Amino acid sequence: MGIVVGPRLSVAGGVAIAGFDLAEPLSPEMKGRILEAFRDYHVVVFPGQSLTREQQYAFAHKFGEIEPSGQPGSKRYAVAHVISNLDKDGNPVDRSSSPVGNYRWHTDKSWHPVPPLLTMLRAVELPPSGGDTEFANTLMAYAALTEKIKQRIAGLRVVFRWGASGGKSIMAMRADPPVDHPLVRTHPATGEKALYLGNHASHIQGMPEAEGAALLEELLEHTTQRQFVYAHRWRKGDLVMWDNRCLLHRVVANYDMGKYRRVMHRSVVRGTVPF
Ligand SMILES: [Fe+2]
Repeated sequence: MGIVVGPRLSVAGGVAIAGFDLAEPLSPEMKGRILEAFRDYHVVVFPGQSLTREQQYAFAHKFGEIEPSGQPGSKRYAVAHVISNLDKDGNPVDRSSSPVGNYRWHTDKSWHPVPPLLTMLRAVELPPSGGDTEFANTLMAYAALTEKIKQRIAGLRVVFRWGASGGKSIMAMRADPPVDHPLVRTHPATGEKALYLGNHASHIQGMPEAEGAALLEELLEHTTQRQFVYAHRWRKGDLVMWDNRCLLHRVVANYDMGKYRRVMHRSVVRGTVPF
């Protein structure tokens, strides 16, 4: 069967590429086709993938340096790492109320000085239904702002800190120092502008914290309107790669998290300093 690049999955993006086994060697031509789809649709779905954690890591590594999730020699080194709703005994737990969880709109590791380019998740175990991942297109959200708001926010910088939101600490802080990134960032591949915000965005540099937090809240509400969102309904074996530079995402808490297991394998590819 040949490789099939499907139609756009939603106005906000998303495309499926079928007929390609990610465990196979990746030719420069195929990599080019994937990168083109990634640039145009931001969310690329590879259905029916059966990969070991090592194979997923190797595939992700074709797109850049992988964010380490373990020390050399440890079990978590050089493999996709496991994210799940399970406790240490393997029992499902409902963590949807956590203020820093994946259930709130965010872009991965935004509190890092050099946040990631892309994230890959592969669905290993899923609840019978639900546990969708929603993606909000921050390029479209920026483009839809009025000229007045675009002028108001031009040049502003957002202070990100793990566990901080709305100028307040919502969890015990980690030791990571705060970082600041442009609220309007330029997509390195296309030059288009995108909003950069979400959970862990604390306030706006040089603006009273409450005012900055209110502006961020207003922009988040704008960005996550339905017309900018693609909701991915997972099927077992889906590997989804998405662009953290122009998307927010969240897991939807639409399944019984205390009852059903949801296990995913994750690989994160390092990006560049936002500008
Ligand atoms: Fe995430």
